[in-house]
Amino acid sequence: MIVALGCDHGGYALMQEVKEHLKGKGFELRDFGTDSPVPTDYPFYAKKVAKAVAGGKADKGILICGTGIGISIAANKVPGIRCALCHDVFSAEATRLHNDANVLAMGGRVVGPGLAMMIVDKFLATEFSGEERHVNRIRQIEEN
Ligand code: RB5
Repeated sequence: MIVALGCDHGGYALMQEVKEHLKGKGFELRDFGTDSPVPTDYPFYAKKVAKAVAGGKADKGILICGTGIGISIAANKVPGIRCALCHDVFSAEATRLHNDANVLAMGGRVVGPGLAMMIVDKFLATEFSGEERHVNRIRQIEEN
């Protein structure tokens, strides 16, 4: 599985840990930055990752800013992206099962690395349920 990664300065430290964690598990990674803790603008990285996922260049995306809020809002502007902000393992599993979320967002100032890795693992390991009611609801999200 190819996973696209993006963060701003608020998510930089946690993203370095996520990256090492996923490398150790054998995931293929596309890192769109940022490359340092210097303040920068999260929409840039959100859109890079979202476009990689929506365009089929990555299977899933992970985005981290300070809260996870701004970066998830920005990612969800890209058609075909269902970015879910998750700070617990239940939500990470449910959003894959019910929403077929293709991008996970977290806040680097909200969760510690232990919980974050559990969230990431659950998100990447859980398949969409494919149940008709969920397929219908996702179709409704995509309608104008
Ligand atoms: C940056 O200070 C912070 O605003 C950003 O990382 C994020 O939390 C925005 O939603």
